[in-house]
Amino acid sequence: MKNMRLHTKAVHAGDRKKAPLAVPVTTPIVTASSYLYEDTAQLDRVFEEEMEGFAYARYDSPTTHALEELIASLENGHGALATSSGMGAVQIALQTAFTDRRHSIVAAGALYGATIRMLTSVFEPMGVDVRFVDICDLAAVEAAIEEARPGCVLMETISNPLLRVGQIDRVAEMARAAGAVLLVDSTFATPLMVRPMELGANLVVHSLTKYLAGHGDVLGGVVVSDEANYATLRALSRTCGPNLGPFEAYLAMRGIKTFALRMERQCANACRIASALAAHPRLEKVYFPADPKHPDAGTIRRLFPDGLYGAMVSFEIKDAGREQVFAFMDKLKLIVKGTSLGDVHSLILYPAMSSHRDLAPKQRLRMGIRDNLVRLSVGIEAAEDILEDLDQALGG
Ligand SMILES: Cc1ncc(COP(=O)(O)O)c(C=O)c1O
Repeated sequence: MKNMRLHTKAVHAGDRKKAPLAVPVTTPIVTASSYLYEDTAQLDRVFEEEMEGFAYARYDSPTTHALEELIASLENGHGALATSSGMGAVQIALQTAFTDRRHSIVAAGALYGATIRMLTSVFEPMGVDVRFVDICDLAAVEAAIEEARPGCVLMETISNPLLRVGQIDRVAEMARAAGAVLLVDSTFATPLMVRPMELGANLVVHSLTKYLAGHGDVLGGVVVSDEANYATLRALSRTCGPNLGPFEAYLAMRGIKTFALRMERQCANACRIASALAAHPRLEKVYFPADPKHPDAGTIRRLFPDGLYGAMVSFEIKDAGREQVFAFMDKLKLIVKGTSLGDVHSLILYPAMSSHRDLAPKQRLRMGIRDNLVRLSVGIEAAEDILEDLDQALGG
């Protein structure tokens, strides 16, 4: 329109230029919430999903879509949905699993605290039958599936915080035989080490906040889906709108470009630190998947590549309670004391205060989370510096 008045120009001038012919080398941040087409019939076809394109950002949007393609490809899944947090991913993945299936779940007893709380305080009150089982005990899993005939089985690849590892492929077979969806939270493992879809999982979730984005500056999650569940996942998302925004999607994509390199370094650091800590006189017990005495050592050897056992190390401090653990944490000079994991920096967390805070003390104890347990997320720093910091804070 020619001869626009100032108020109109302010809204329209210079806007809505066609993308330049040149292709940018990185994915641009596209913030538009809706999209224009040559004619309205085209937009109608995009709404109908008869034509590729974007209609409205709650349905799909370019930057977030690029991230979803990237993660689906890393996990060898059919498609993915990025969400505004890891818990958002868990929630919509569970809803996907329950669509057209029994509202019953067999879940690993060892899970991130907020996931347990979601099951018991959100899904259970809505009428979902929730049963927890030791996911590493296949006979118990089989019995629970037989009894509950669940619509969904839920486990973590490496459990939070005691680092147990269940046999995803065997659990997947049992779930499939019972007509249940296997949903795996693979946040601690990342697709560098284990790709649950290749082992038979139907849905995989990650907190993007952690290793994938990796820099402590973005909150996000993702659900990767097989072909059978993808349409339901997207339809739920279109209606419920848990989507990740374009800025966060951009940061996550930027982080993912180096995630494999970071993870290799973090895993190598964690191996060194775990073996040094195993001999530390102030420690009662060290939890690390590479430990030959780990209760799931056989599964770990079978499912994990050599040398890549994750970068989380949990340990119990001898004769310590909450007060002594806090004193130890406060003495740390390099290692960040906080909540979260998987960042470039090493970070220490006290599960009883943080990741599993919402559970009753008795429930924590039943899960093996004692008051002298801390969880270390090993970063990419020099391993010697991390060890020196731990040693001085332990009073060594
Ligand atoms: C294993 C696991 N899953 C899911 C989440 C939730 O992720 P977010 O904090 O991005 O919601 C966390 C957070 O710590 C986690 O450790």
